[in-house]
Amino acid sequence: MEDVYIESGIKKNTKLCEIKDLKEDKAIIKKGADKYLPGIIIYKSNNSIYIWLNNCPHANLTLDIIEGRVQAKNNDLLCANHGARFNPTTGECIKGPCKNTFLKSFPYKIKNNCILAG
Ligand code: FES
Repeated sequence: MEDVYIESGIKKNTKLCEIKDLKEDKAIIKKGADKYLPGIIIYKSNNSIYIWLNNCPHANLTLDIIEGRVQAKNNDLLCANHGARFNPTTGECIKGPCKNTFLKSFPYKIKNNCILAG
């Protein structure tokens, strides 16, 4: 599990955001200290929070070409590189060149209404 911190560029215990910053069914991107690493995608739906490594399993690229844009109109996560679509709550690729593969889950914990890596 430790490698996901290295891969993302976000260290364990880093404050990711406050719960109030998340809007229902809207994904946000959090970059790490190293802008060349992919960072993560944070998504909230039905009072559950899902965090994924912002790295498409098709070609190991970030999903967003325009920074922060990772969603289709129906809220699926969308890789702008070759059009893969991912279920935002399971991370599964449901359409596209890497169908049936998964985004990598990123661990988190909640403390004092803040979401922390870990
Ligand atoms: S890199 Fe995401 S679909 Fe190709």
